[in-house]
Amino acid sequence: MKLLHLTFSPRGEQSESTQLSQAIVDRLCCEHTVSQIARRDWAQHATSSIDGAYAHALANAARRTDDMPSSESLAASEMLIRELENADLVVIGTPMHNFTVPASLKTWIDLIVRVNRSFNITPEGKVGTLKDKPVYIAIASGGFFGSERSRQPDFLTPYLKAILATVGLHDLRFFSAQGMALGSEAVQAGKAKAMEDFTKLCSSQASNKLSLHA
Ligand SMILES: Cc1cc2nc3c(=O)[nH]c(=O)nc-3n(C[C@H](O)[C@H](O)[C@H](O)COP(=O)(O)O)c2cc1C
Repeated sequence: MKLLHLTFSPRGEQSESTQLSQAIVDRLCCEHTVSQIARRDWAQHATSSIDGAYAHALANAARRTDDMPSSESLAASEMLIRELENADLVVIGTPMHNFTVPASLKTWIDLIVRVNRSFNITPEGKVGTLKDKPVYIAIASGGFFGSERSRQPDFLTPYLKAILATVGLHDLRFFSAQGMALGSEAVQAGKAKAMEDFTKLCSSQASNKLSLHA
């Protein structure tokens, strides 16, 4: 199995979402025969936004497909889409920024969601061209979201569900270390809860496998 590990925090190795996603990668490597790991710390390399030639090409791509001018963004788009196509498992580490994805993850999305390449427009709506595969998403947030304790909206998880489904990725598994800005006890509790949720998912998958083979 080939695993693709993508991280989007500007905090480098200090990042809680990077550390959580790395813990998930380590566990997945124990449980699957992973032959190859590709790692991309997109926050460190991302261009600040897409270039004009790419935006122009996409705006016109619904009419013409074969004359996209070359651009840095188009080359990056092709490389990132191929990277996703080649992977059997994807692990994403991302912080929550202002209730949603950080700018670096938004730029990555702008590059991988490409009309006539990673999705087609059909009478039924947008249909993804990528083969579905498990995508593990590790989130770190300063406060809480998505529960009774939360005092803020969550535009991050619904957005990722909608946009990744557009390219054909529906099998998303979310894990979140929440309360990372609320002191060391909250940090420990938030990280422990995320790994507990991940362990639960692994155990339920293992027992499903056993019952299939029984
Ligand atoms: C620009 C910015 C915006 C943020 N917005 C939110 C937010 O909306 N909600 C939240 O809970 N935490 C927010 N935080 C806090 C981060 O989510 C938190 O520090 C998290 O642990 C960062 O993950 P990382 O360590 O992987 O970068 C924000 C942090 C930054 C830098």
